[in-house]
Amino acid sequence: MKRMVVVGTQWGDEGKGKITDYLAQKADVVVRYQGGNNAGHTVVIKGEKHSLHLLPSGILSETIENVMANGMVINPKAFVDEIKTIKTPFKLSISDRAHIVLPYHPELDKAYEKHKGDEKIGTTHKGIGPAYTDKAARIGIRVSTFIHKERFYKELKELVEQKNFELSHYDHPNVDFESIYQEYRSYADVMAPYVKDTSVYLNQLIEQDKRILFEGAQGVLLCLDHGTYPYVTSSSPTASSVPLNSGIAPWLVEGAIGVTKAYTTRVGSGPMPSEILGDLAHYIREVGREYGTTTGRPRRIGWLDTVILRHTKRVSGLSYLAVTLLDVLTGIDELKIVTHYELNGKEIDRIPADIEDFMQAKPVYITLPGWKEDITKVTSWEELPIHAKEYLKKIESLVGVPIGMFSVGPDRDQTIMVTNFFE
Ligand code: IMP
Repeated sequence: MKRMVVVGTQWGDEGKGKITDYLAQKADVVVRYQGGNNAGHTVVIKGEKHSLHLLPSGILSETIENVMANGMVINPKAFVDEIKTIKTPFKLSISDRAHIVLPYHPELDKAYEKHKGDEKIGTTHKGIGPAYTDKAARIGIRVSTFIHKERFYKELKELVEQKNFELSHYDHPNVDFESIYQEYRSYADVMAPYVKDTSVYLNQLIEQDKRILFEGAQGVLLCLDHGTYPYVTSSSPTASSVPLNSGIAPWLVEGAIGVTKAYTTRVGSGPMPSEILGDLAHYIREVGREYGTTTGRPRRIGWLDTVILRHTKRVSGLSYLAVTLLDVLTGIDELKIVTHYELNGKEIDRIPADIEDFMQAKPVYITLPGWKEDITKVTSWEELPIHAKEYLKKIESLVGVPIGMFSVGPDRDQTIMVTNFFE
């Protein structure tokens, strides 16, 4: 396969950045196709930690082409701050059709969440929902307008007036047009040299037979259409959203690697049937460093749930699985895996659309023996302890997708390919 998507199969934070970084070494191009700086990818290279929020994971390589495609919402201030942290030369293109996140978006995000009280979504407060809302309402500012001084001035002026009206309604402090305009003009100057029609560019790269990796942010359970609505983000991290959000034909996407943790985590509100509470959750959270890259929030912990993985396989498409953080489970005597749910006394193998039903779904588990051996230095499938192999084999058979990769630690060198699918 030459054009693959890296898909988060759970609620985000599956280790996509690490898998993308690993596969990117074999790629010519890395494309971010949705979301914004709500995402947080941690990449560790030779012990050095890099946190990426907006920039594609190929940005740390001097040779890879990086594309921020039309489906993204880009916060220019966050972009400028992040680009300054990249100390090595890089190649980058930004879509002229991507939307811009402006200071009133995070303010509205906070105001809506506050208004929702106990029913809040638990967003990252980065203004992602309000920015996509503007896009759907056809009042958003696109990159092409943002880098055009007069047009940006005119549109921003009208929008600030309208947004302040709404902010006042929520008793929330207003934003100031003049200071936003002055500050953001300077960010537009930094962004402008990278801007182009990335659909045209990507199709040229495809004609040149380049190897392309499409990098999803968040996970399928946070998809606006196929996630646990309303506790979702406002874009679609599925493989099926790639063509629309990057401007290529659907049949040009050749496959998807679904990244899953060896267990489950979730940040923010909403149901999580396999959630573990108490000491074991605390243990896994500490060993797995399960705190948000973007917000620092402690992540909720659960057993691996294969109903979720089969859902992801169906709605997104998955060619292979990449199982991350396998080492975190070392030393736990017994490991549980969700095989299906029970709802109103009936066995179900799907995620109920109604969130109240999903909250009542009871997970049904199988239990497997754990392993005690340190696996952090394992370099091949063969070197894994027998119980770790059995655990992975069980996931493979329950999900019906072969395991193409697994990882046993945060460093790039601790990722192991089982099958060379990206050739
Ligand atoms: P928003 O994307 O900030 O609107 O947040 C909506 C939901 O998606 C919340 O539950 C967030 O915690 C979650 N979310 C957004 N981005 C990420 C991510 O990169 N990893 C994990 N959860 C995320």
